[in-house]
Amino acid sequence: MSRIPIIAGNWKMHKTAAEAVAFVREVKGKAEIAGVESVICAPFTALPALAEALKGTTLKLGAQNLHFADQGAYTGEISGAMLKELGVHYVIIGHSERRQFFAETDEMVNKKVHAAFRHGLVPIVCVGELLEEREAGKTRDVVRRQTEAAFAGLSAEQAAQVVVAYEPVWAIGTGRASTAEDANEVIGYIRGVIGGLFGADAAARVRIQYGGSVKPETVPDFMRQPEIDGALVGGASLEPASYIRLVEGAKP
Ligand code: 13P
Repeated sequence: MSRIPIIAGNWKMHKTAAEAVAFVREVKGKAEIAGVESVICAPFTALPALAEALKGTTLKLGAQNLHFADQGAYTGEISGAMLKELGVHYVIIGHSERRQFFAETDEMVNKKVHAAFRHGLVPIVCVGELLEEREAGKTRDVVRRQTEAAFAGLSAEQAAQVVVAYEPVWAIGTGRASTAEDANEVIGYIRGVIGGLFGADAAARVRIQYGGSVKPETVPDFMRQPEIDGALVGGASLEPASYIRLVEGAKP
């Protein structure tokens, strides 16, 4: 089963709408490479302008969060319907920064995954262990717990459509990436967990990215690993030239 490589930039809290449009002007055409799916996950405020700027390109638009309710008294929150209306395709759910700084729990992550599917959005679900969990030999336990919780209540067909991003928390923004071999091992384990829950077909189809200090020059190392289907990239996705090289590095 061949899985289409997916490179997603997670801009986090970077770029105004005008800056986002200027970025697209630079990457248009160049970051559109046959056989690689390229995605930009931008702040909410840049999404309408980006949707317009990306028209006629193969780049896909992603958000970085959504609320789990369809609507209601949740001041400051954004629903799946609001994102869908803008032309958003992907939504990052359960990023470690949201778990750490905004108290997102496994249960909330699961509710958000269901909300994404209700609105026709594809979740990019983040899992990954803290440094102390890795050092205590708990990496597998942590990614199992997070994966099982995030996927609870999905159909096998939905499970196969989810993109998982394995992002060890100690590797994010630190310049200290996981080795490709270690990432491959954990990602293979996550695929096994999904297989145990939803069967071999879903496990073979689900795409699992690595994230954490990925640079253009390291993308090919990760992509050579059989279990790794792409990357979720923060810092190195912000500069147009760097983003283009990330996508090129995933060329099959
Ligand atoms: P960096 O690529 O900046 O380490 O960030 C990774 C990340 O958190 C992507 O979601």
